[in-house]
Amino acid sequence: MRILIAGRDGQLGRAVIAEAERRGLEYLAPPEKVFDISNLEAVREVVSSSKASHLINCAAYNLVDKAEEDWQSAAMVNGIGVRNLAITCVEQGVELLHCSTDYVFSGEKGAPYTILDEPNPINRYGESKLLGERLLQSLGERFYLVRLSWVFGNGSQNFLFKLKGWASKNQRLEIVDDQVSSPSFVDDLAPALLDLMETGAYGLYHLCNSGYCSRYQWAQHALRLMGWEGELIPVKSDRFPTPAKRPAFSAMDTFPFEDTVGYKLPTWQEATERFLQKEAQ
Ligand SMILES: NC(=O)c1ccc[n+]([C@@H]2O[C@H](COP(=O)([O-])OP(=O)(O)OC[C@H]3O[C@@H](n4cnc5c(N)ncnc54)[C@H](OP(=O)(O)O)[C@@H]3O)[C@@H](O)[C@H]2O)c1
Repeated sequence: MRILIAGRDGQLGRAVIAEAERRGLEYLAPPEKVFDISNLEAVREVVSSSKASHLINCAAYNLVDKAEEDWQSAAMVNGIGVRNLAITCVEQGVELLHCSTDYVFSGEKGAPYTILDEPNPINRYGESKLLGERLLQSLGERFYLVRLSWVFGNGSQNFLFKLKGWASKNQRLEIVDDQVSSPSFVDDLAPALLDLMETGAYGLYHLCNSGYCSRYQWAQHALRLMGWEGELIPVKSDRFPTPAKRPAFSAMDTFPFEDTVGYKLPTWQEATERFLQKEAQ
């Protein structure tokens, strides 16, 4: 296995690199200025010179609110970028693992989404990620399409980073309790993605830490672990209007990940604790 990684500077990209190193795998992770997935010719050139057998796409446009206006930039990376990877991987016989999101769902089902459920995004970011899924499914051959949710790790594009910032400045916090999903720690996702890539069981997966919670419950757990002693108040999403609507309940059922790889990921509570301990070191 010789792995090429796109999006090396993101939360997941860094964790995949760390895991590849831990396993002693051969890998390449060129910077975005060289490996810009929205540029088909650049993708062809990088994949060809890499001699990779596998490609993991951790690159994404993840600015959910900004994507409402700047939807073409989101679609260029999350849709056309995935098209470029799919075309190139077929041309060059490379296996492709691509990450999508729970935000392809509307959040109205009221129970965890399975891989059998039809996507129906309610914001532009979700639409752009769905475009990438559809292009991959129509153009790709040997691929793993893995939907993730509420990804957190070392980086700023996640809820715990924002929560720590708010908690350091306030003794009273209002957090929404009407958005529910499964927090997912990159230190658990990265080994799981590499294990999945070893199975040869191509197709669609949902992958996240076990269990689900509201943003409020996640904050409650994390703030207690941080020793924060302020007042935490549950509020509804309309308290903080945002350009992009968020799904109310986008937790995912991870069938058939466990049947395929042989284990499920630890709970979101335990993953949150491990993350905070690591951050404190
Ligand atoms: N974060 C979440 O809560 C969440 C939830 C569900 C699913 N996901 C999915 O999980 C995957 C990993 O997310 P993440 O949280 O690790 O994302 P992240 O931290 O935002 O990292 C994405 C990386 O991709 C880079 N990138 C943007 N455009 C690119 C391009 N054209 N070519 C190459 N690289 C480019 C970004 O660079 P810049 O920062 O310079 O733009 C960034 O370093 C993504 O597919 C994401 O959609 C994330």
